[in-house]
Amino acid sequence: MRKTVLITGACINTGVDIVEKFAAEGYDVVFTGRSADSVAAAENRYREKFSQVAIKGYVLRSLTEDGLANEQGVKDLFDTLDSEGVFVGTLVLNAADQGLNMKIFENPLSDFTNVLNTNVVWNYCLCEQSAQRMKQHGEGSIVFVNSNTAYRAIPDRIAYVTSKGAQLGMMRALTLDLGKYGIRVNAVLPGMIRTDRWEKNPAFYAKVPSRFTPIGDVATGADVADAVYYFAAHARNTTGAELVVDGGNTIQLYPIIPEE
Ligand SMILES: NC(=O)c1ccc[n+]([C@@H]2O[C@H](COP(=O)([O-])OP(=O)(O)OC[C@H]3O[C@@H](n4cnc5c(N)ncnc54)[C@H](OP(=O)(O)O)[C@@H]3O)[C@@H](O)[C@H]2O)c1
Repeated sequence: MRKTVLITGACINTGVDIVEKFAAEGYDVVFTGRSADSVAAAENRYREKFSQVAIKGYVLRSLTEDGLANEQGVKDLFDTLDSEGVFVGTLVLNAADQGLNMKIFENPLSDFTNVLNTNVVWNYCLCEQSAQRMKQHGEGSIVFVNSNTAYRAIPDRIAYVTSKGAQLGMMRALTLDLGKYGIRVNAVLPGMIRTDRWEKNPAFYAKVPSRFTPIGDVATGADVADAVYYFAAHARNTTGAELVVDGGNTIQLYPIIPEE
C-alpha cells in the first residue's frame, strides 16, 4: 500500500523541505496552504520535481471569519480525501501563526486568540480527524513541528510562545490517548531556521549563529525535515518524544558572546 503524508502550511519555507523529503523517500503527499494561487503554484513545482509520487495541494484556512478554528474545513478536507481513497498515515503539523510583534498592552485579545486558535485548536481538529482514520487502520504517526520556544520565551511573542507550550501538552496527551490504536505522536523542536524571514533579517542576525548556537549554525529546513521524517518513518517504538533541532541553542545557561 502506498504511504501518504499530509503536511500543513507547505507552500513556502520549512514546509517545502518537508514535502520534498517525503516525496524523495517515495511518499505520496497531500499539503495545505491558505491561498489558492500559492497552493496551485507549489503543486506545479512539486509535480515537476517529483513525477514518481502523487502530490496534491488543498486550500485550507485555519480560522473562520469569526476567528474560530476552522473545524468544518478540516472535516471537509478529510471527507474529500476519503472520497478519493486517500489514507493519511502520517500527519505533519507544520503551519503556524508566528504571532510576531505582540505587545501585551497594545494588541487586542483577538490577536492572542487567533494565534492560539490556529496553532492549538485547529491543530487539534486536524489530529482528531486524522486519528479517526488512523485508528481504523491500526497505525499512524503525528508529528508536530513545534519550537524550542516551548521551553524558552522570546520577547513580544507571547501568544506564539504560549501556543508552542500548549502544543507540547497536547502532544503528550495525544500520545496517551492514541497509543492503544497504534498511533505515535512526537514533536520536533527547531530553534532558528534559515527561512525567507531569516534571509531578510537585519545585519545583527548575521552574528546569531556563533553567539547563540554551540554548533555555530542555525538549522536549514532540510535539517528539520530530516527530524520529522525520522519520527514518521524510522521511530517505530518512539512516541511522546521531543527532538530538538537548534544547534544546541537551548542547552546553554548563557549565550556565548565572543569578544568583538
Ligand atoms: N522559522 C523559524 O525560525 C522557526 C523556529 C522554530 C520553530 N519554527 C516552526 O517551524 C514551522 C515552520 O516554520 P516556518 O518559519 O517555515 O513557517 P512560516 O514560513 O512562518 O509559515 C509556514 C506556513 O504556515 C502557514 N501559516 C502562517 N500563518 C498561518 C495562519 N494564521 N493560519 C494557517 N496557516 C498559517 C503559512 O501557510 P500559507 O501558505 O497559507 O501562508 C506558511 O506556509 C512552524 O510551526 C514554526 O512555528 C520555525
